[in-house]
Amino acid sequence: MKKLIEIKKGEQIIIRHIEESDIDGVWNNFNEVIEEAIYLPVLFPVRSQFEKHTWFNSLQRENEICIVAVHPELKVPLNILGQCEVSNSEWDAATHIGKLGVIVNSDFRNMGIGYHLIDFAIRESKRINKKKKITLSTFTENKRALHLYKKMGFRTVGIRRKQFYMNSKYYDEVLMELWIEDYLKKNDNPYGNRVRFS
Ligand SMILES: CC(C)(COP(=O)(O)OP(=O)(O)OC[C@H]1O[C@@H](n2cnc3c(N)ncnc32)[C@H](O)[C@@H]1OP(=O)(O)O)[C@@H](O)C(=O)NCCC(=O)NCCS
Repeated sequence: MKKLIEIKKGEQIIIRHIEESDIDGVWNNFNEVIEEAIYLPVLFPVRSQFEKHTWFNSLQRENEICIVAVHPELKVPLNILGQCEVSNSEWDAATHIGKLGVIVNSDFRNMGIGYHLIDFAIRESKRINKKKKITLSTFTENKRALHLYKKMGFRTVGIRRKQFYMNSKYYDEVLMELWIEDYLKKNDNPYGNRVRFS
């Protein structure tokens, strides 16, 4: 399944599940965010093809969700504008939980792509993996991410003070969660007229 969205610039973007040819685009976005050094508690970029493909193989083996935003007119790997992953919990008794992470390329932020990636990932996590609850975390400084998560109905369930230390600075981690049934009840027609499915 995929959907077509129109972003604020008027361009049409495809939202769909990841394919093998998207791997470099996805990791380019990840590495760019690591270089920004203010959004994720990861210090080193991933450059090796082996590591990138190991991640993709594990994603497929574990049947985890990775949704990508694709610009149909840009060449690989620049065509991957962002991604949203929902991974499984490590606990046997928490198979109903999905852990969400999302990244949008800096040139395409604030255009609604993050919203559509998360929305699609939530729905597919329920449909494919029978997930019931989505959890995530972010830094207290990440105002854009917090705004988006709250707008979509995620609620804060705790703050871990000084959880990360990067570039001589401590960061607090905000823990958030969303019960998927509640989300779907409030968003039975979330797409408006600007989205088409195929
Ligand atoms: C967080 C992120 C995934 C959101 O994706 P996006 O495509 O930019 O998000 P959207 O355009 O759908 O929504 C952004 C919202 O934040 C708002 N916003 C932007 N800057 C803001 C700020 N400084 N404070 C509050 N809200 C802000 C926008 O106005 C928009 O809200 P609106 O639709 O109600 O107007 C993306 O910005 C990103 O990749 N950031 C860097 C990596 C990152 O932080 N990942 C998440 C780690 S937990």
